[in-house]
Amino acid sequence: MNCRLTIKDKIHWIGVNDRETTLFENYWPIDKGVAYNSYLINDDKIAILDTVKFNKTTEYLEKIKEIIGDKEVDYLIVNHMEPDHSGSMLALIGAYPNMQIVGNKKTFPFIEGFYGITKNFFEVGDGDMIDLGKHKLRFYLTPMVHWPETMMTYDETSNVLFSMDAFGGFGSLDGGVFDDEINFEFYEDETRRYYSNIVAKYSPMVQRALKKLSGLDIKMIAPTHGPVWRTDPGKIVSLYDKWSRFEADHGVVIVYGSMYGNTAKMADYLARIIAENGVKNVKVFDASKTHNSYILSEIWKYKAVVIGSCAYNTKVFSSVETVLAKLSNSGLKDRYISVFGNKSWSGGGVSGIETFVEEIGWEKIGDSIEATYSPKDTEFMALTQLGKQIAAKLDETFSK
Ligand code: FEO
Repeated sequence: MNCRLTIKDKIHWIGVNDRETTLFENYWPIDKGVAYNSYLINDDKIAILDTVKFNKTTEYLEKIKEIIGDKEVDYLIVNHMEPDHSGSMLALIGAYPNMQIVGNKKTFPFIEGFYGITKNFFEVGDGDMIDLGKHKLRFYLTPMVHWPETMMTYDETSNVLFSMDAFGGFGSLDGGVFDDEINFEFYEDETRRYYSNIVAKYSPMVQRALKKLSGLDIKMIAPTHGPVWRTDPGKIVSLYDKWSRFEADHGVVIVYGSMYGNTAKMADYLARIIAENGVKNVKVFDASKTHNSYILSEIWKYKAVVIGSCAYNTKVFSSVETVLAKLSNSGLKDRYISVFGNKSWSGGGVSGIETFVEEIGWEKIGDSIEATYSPKDTEFMALTQLGKQIAAKLDETFSK
């Protein structure tokens, strides 16, 4: 017997937790797991919204059977085709061969391309509605949040928005499924890590989607990952709005790459100066130790960024290069940036970061500081000056 969970008015959560997978999309660490949420509406007509990843199909089909017994599923609504949500589609069609597959014009080539399915397609356009009996499902196309076919489904009867990946995040659902049952801080961090690494490149499309949805009376948000937001859906909507407008909090993220500790020493010294000057949120990361997904998430949160690197084969140190590449690709705007590092017989670390600064166009605070072999009084004096400048700039920005 699986857990039975009704989220509202005959809408059932039929999601699964995945604590076995080490890397989401074979890249992002998910040491705290992830949930693939799917929903079933048990009305005169039965609809399922999205499926789950292939590794959980057996458990998933059991859950459906426990709710509907021998009844048929009438509709599979495909809000998003990424395989963590479409991975059980073939098995579901095998169990319910007459089921109509609901998607928009962009959805069906994905279904055919991934799974070779070509029939029982039910195309909907923006604003179309399907009547299940009591529940009336209206479709809102939200392309490129963050795939071309992404759309959301709004149940006009129960005021639930099925939002696919939007408003969702990493972290399995460990008993608590609703926002009022969980530790919000953990899921906020994991939702921002999901946003900044997976959705954020499409922030302008997120803004467009938020505008499109702004007239709806949303009482509950049911995403395909993370908690179901039933008590305060406005909280996650306003965070999404903030993240997609690149707004940040008062704080500094220092990221460095250091082979033998000299660049690390500069990072720690600078962090101390910044803290002494009143900045409470100072986060220091060794780029070789912490996965770049966590670093990007913190940079999404805080206004000032400091990047430090030793020179490595006349370039930026590889682990720092990865962070810079991720930042360039993410489309993040409106951050302050400062630069420091170390060289020995040749440079390349600091100058490489400077090239990144020029390309990304963020406001640079202070002059770059580069030590030779190891930092000495001259560099520590410069770091003291830089730390004061960064703290003052933040105070000035956030006092406006
Ligand atoms: Fe959760 Fe875009 O897949």
